[in-house]
Amino acid sequence: MAKRLDGKVAIITGGASGIGASAVQLFHEHGARVVIADIQDKLGQDLADKIGENVSYIHCNVSNEDDIRNLIDTTIAKHGQLDIMYSNAGIVDGVVAGILDCTKSDVERVLGVNLVGAFLCAKHAARVMIPQRKGCIIFTASATTSIAGISSHAYAASKCGLLGLCRNLAVELGQYGIRVNCVSPYAVVNTGMTGTKSEADSHNLEMALSDTSLLKGQVLKAEGVAKAALYLASDDANYVCGLNLLVDGGYSVVNPTLMNFITKQLGN
Ligand SMILES: NC(=O)c1ccc[n+]([C@@H]2O[C@H](COP(=O)([O-])OP(=O)(O)OC[C@H]3O[C@@H](n4cnc5c(N)ncnc54)[C@H](O)[C@@H]3O)[C@@H](O)[C@H]2O)c1
Repeated sequence: MAKRLDGKVAIITGGASGIGASAVQLFHEHGARVVIADIQDKLGQDLADKIGENVSYIHCNVSNEDDIRNLIDTTIAKHGQLDIMYSNAGIVDGVVAGILDCTKSDVERVLGVNLVGAFLCAKHAARVMIPQRKGCIIFTASATTSIAGISSHAYAASKCGLLGLCRNLAVELGQYGIRVNCVSPYAVVNTGMTGTKSEADSHNLEMALSDTSLLKGQVLKAEGVAKAALYLASDDANYVCGLNLLVDGGYSVVNPTLMNFITKQLGN
C-alpha cells in the first residue's frame, strides 16, 4: 500500500472516538505520526496504546486556549513539526428544539466547542505552520453547511460558522502554503455522538439513511469520512484549498419536495 502521509505529523482532535478514531487509525496506517487530542482520557490513551508506535494521546479541551497551546507546543517538542491539524472534535445539543425552546447556554456550549474550539485549533496550528511555510488544516463540518433543516439551530450555526472560518483562513493562509478545507459528512451511525446501538438497529438505521441519499444501498461509515480527510491531508490534494468536501451521498444536492408534489398531483 502506498503510504500517503509518510513523514507527516498530524494532530486529530476528538480522536478518541467515532470519525476521529477512524482517522487516527487511517492516518497512522498511511505513515503519519499522530497525536490524539480529546477529553475522554481513557478512550484516547487506550487507542494510542493499542495502535502503539507513533501514536500518542494528550488531554485537550478544545474550548480552553491553554490546553490548545499546550497541545501544539507538546507536539512540536516531541516531533519537531506539525503538518496536519485535523480539527474534528464536536458536540450536538440533545434535542432539536424550536427557537423558543432553544436556550442561550445551549447555543454557547455548542458554539464553544464546534466553532470557538476549531478557531483555537487553527490559530495555534497557524502559529507554527506559518514559519514552516507549509501545513494543512482540516475541519469536520457537516452536511448542515449545504442544506438547512437537518439539525438544531445551534449545531447548524456552529457548522456554517466553521465553513465561513475555513474559507476566510484559506484566503489568509494560502500565501504561506497552508491549505484549509472542510470535510462535511451526512449522518454516521454508531459514533459517540449518534449513540451505540445493536448491530440490527444500526443496520436498519443505516439502510434508512442510505435510502434518503442518492446512493441507495451505500452506507456512510466513520471510515468513509476519515478517507475523505485523508485525501485532504495528503499531497494528492496539494492544490485543494477552501473546499467544503461533502460526504453525503448527494443528499444535499436535491430537494425532492416539488417533484414529489407533482408526481402526487399527476397520480390523483
Ligand atoms: N456522526 C455524524 O452523523 C456526524 C455528521 C456530521 C458531522 N459530524 C461531526 O463529526 C465530528 C466527530 O463526531 P462523531 O460523530 O465522530 O462523534 P464522537 O462523539 O464519536 O466524536 C467526537 C469526539 O470529540 C470529543 N470532544 C467533544 N468535546 C470536546 C472538547 N471540548 N475538547 C476535545 N474533544 C472533545 C469527544 O470526546 C469525542 O471523542 C464532530 O465534529 C461532528 O459534529 C458527525
